[in-house]
Amino acid sequence: VIDPVAHLRIVNKYIAPDGFNRSTTLAGGTFPGPLIKATKGDRFSLNVVNELTDPTQFLSTTVHWHGLFQNGTNYADGVAFVTQCPIAQNNSFLYQFEARNQAGTYWYHSHYSTQTCDGLRGPLVIYDPEDPMSYLYDVDDETTVITLADWYHYTAAVLNHIIGVNPNSTLINGLGRFAGGPQSDLAVVNTEYGKRYRLRLVGMSCDTHFIFSIDGHTFTVIEADGVLTEPLLVDSIQVFPGQRYSVVLNADQLVGNYWIRALPNLANATFNGGMNSAILRYQGAPVADPSTNHTASVMPMLETNLHALNHPGTPGVPGYGNADINLKLLVNNTGGAYSINGVHYKPPSVPVLLQILSGAQTAVDLMPNGSVITLEANKVVELTMTTIGFGGPHPIHLHGHTFDVIQSAGNTSFFNYLNPVRRDVVSAGSQGQQMVIRFVTDNAGPWFLHCHIDWHLEAGFAVVMAENPPGVSGHVGKLPSAWDNLCPKYNSLTPSQVGG
Ligand code: C2O
Repeated sequence: VIDPVAHLRIVNKYIAPDGFNRSTTLAGGTFPGPLIKATKGDRFSLNVVNELTDPTQFLSTTVHWHGLFQNGTNYADGVAFVTQCPIAQNNSFLYQFEARNQAGTYWYHSHYSTQTCDGLRGPLVIYDPEDPMSYLYDVDDETTVITLADWYHYTAAVLNHIIGVNPNSTLINGLGRFAGGPQSDLAVVNTEYGKRYRLRLVGMSCDTHFIFSIDGHTFTVIEADGVLTEPLLVDSIQVFPGQRYSVVLNADQLVGNYWIRALPNLANATFNGGMNSAILRYQGAPVADPSTNHTASVMPMLETNLHALNHPGTPGVPGYGNADINLKLLVNNTGGAYSINGVHYKPPSVPVLLQILSGAQTAVDLMPNGSVITLEANKVVELTMTTIGFGGPHPIHLHGHTFDVIQSAGNTSFFNYLNPVRRDVVSAGSQGQQMVIRFVTDNAGPWFLHCHIDWHLEAGFAVVMAENPPGVSGHVGKLPSAWDNLCPKYNSLTPSQVGG
């Protein structure tokens, strides 16, 4: 656990979290990286130090603080070539920002190519001393976080060139087993009979989504992606890459050991001796693997049943197509490359933020050509994403915002303008499906919108929402000199020089 003022060393290290030893890229030398723990209103000061040395992996890095709005500090959003130049070997960058009114469950990860898949992922929690939901749980240990991750035995640099890569194992809190591998240690979540716990689930996959459940237990969802929800009792949750949930668990079953399961949608989706599993252990239970059985889910969490707590109402005029700006994005996949409205995203050489600050402020001037959508300030945007190409379901993430899920994938006739869930990652479904979200352009800056399957992002499934470009300089102020140092060759550009 580290405080919001810290050095985060990015290192290469051999680890064997599932019994298979491989070189990885880690924050602080562990998988997952250390929990970054803050209190609502804290100022973050995170110095990311690039100590990478392994030439078989990426040698540059950036870190993105997933879910934090970075209002006024777009340059600290951590997206390579959108908000900054990458941090080169033996260099560091100080990310300083405030999270103002945000509290809940977040995470951080690399936003440089597919480096996340080599291990640079960790949880970030902002505690709220006045949490309105705390009447539902006793805080036994503030660090009860359950991270769900897929894990690969090959480096991302190798896997980037393969279509349809499958992970080798599932790691829960950094431990797991693979098919044919040793009976390596599994994560244990300790509980005490009679107590209530807030468990924070963090979906930190590169690709896989999971059905999460705990044998013999139900639990109550109270938070989705940093936004409190009306309490919803469920017995399983589908967790997509990038999504987070808080659930309240009553330890009210017989003292014993129970399997925690994260069933993946991709390969090796079997239990087979503890794969895709961790252990819920009551105090007093023997130190042994559980012998509990999985029962079919009868109360799965459905996105349409999730409602933001104290929902202020969906912004804008209700009714499909009645927002100020109605955007339609068509996703296709041809030959392994993704495109949005016909354009395959390729990172520009000059970060989009710097292009804007250098005077390029219209979509035609901003690079990459066709992948930047400019949005006027203080408008309600309704975004419809339709997938026509194969692949998916695609978890879609928008930086700098939460959004209302008006229509979730697969629910073609149901539009919720009344009390939808508000979050920052939602599934857009697969081929032939669509989803509709709404958000307000109240945060000037270039914000990435992309599929949170890292391989798909690398394959071009992204656009940049350039929000209020003329307002950006007033909003973000002058770039800190540490930012300038990341890409000195691009300092003092003129609008005509930003292209390409
Ligand atoms: Cu979790 Cu673009 O990020």
